[in-house]
Amino acid sequence: MHEIKNLILEIINFLDVYKSNKNQIEIFNELKTLSLEENQFQNFKGNNPPKEQSLHKALEIIVQEPLKNLKEKIHLALEQLKWNVDNGSFYNKNSDVGNDYLNGNMNTELIGPRFGHFKSEELRLGLFLLEPNIFYKDHKHEAPELYINLTNGTEWRFGNSGWQFQEPGSIIYNEPFREHAMRVNENPFLSIWCWPKNSSSECILVPRSDWSNL
Ligand SMILES: [Fe+2]
Repeated sequence: MHEIKNLILEIINFLDVYKSNKNQIEIFNELKTLSLEENQFQNFKGNNPPKEQSLHKALEIIVQEPLKNLKEKIHLALEQLKWNVDNGSFYNKNSDVGNDYLNGNMNTELIGPRFGHFKSEELRLGLFLLEPNIFYKDHKHEAPELYINLTNGTEWRFGNSGWQFQEPGSIIYNEPFREHAMRVNENPFLSIWCWPKNSSSECILVPRSDWSNL
């Protein structure tokens, strides 16, 4: 329990130092007020990460000073973490989210209503990984979303923004229903991810004409 709690506290600490706008501050404040007492802890057993090799590669390539403590706390919590693969359950049943995503994602919920190591009513906070060389199609959701990007080499687009790299350590905030997509290059994408509210509303694909080329 303590290793997971320490990882959550380190995430809160990171946001405390690097938060830079109203939305990030709001999510930071919500995280800060959550109870991490023993009675909130759900004793899920840790498992072998389904994308173990990519997870280790991702951790290996985190070398930036501001991410040092987070990396260490992830390492210390690893054995306790229960990982899940999303088989499309975040999406409507008939959505074509694509095999890249379906075969290449993995997450663990540090905090969450059902699968979180610590229970909360609505907020979900976890680690999210995508395997290398994946295109995660444009999508949107009602939940506001915050990512702390931990690894180098993933490109993002937001609506019609065009593709842009996000540096390791960057904090990305998606307001509700903002369209976003990710293109992972040769390094796996590892991130901290948070949906503070509306966390059970489904993701909606937003088809784009260039999907067949990506
Ligand atoms: Fe999202």
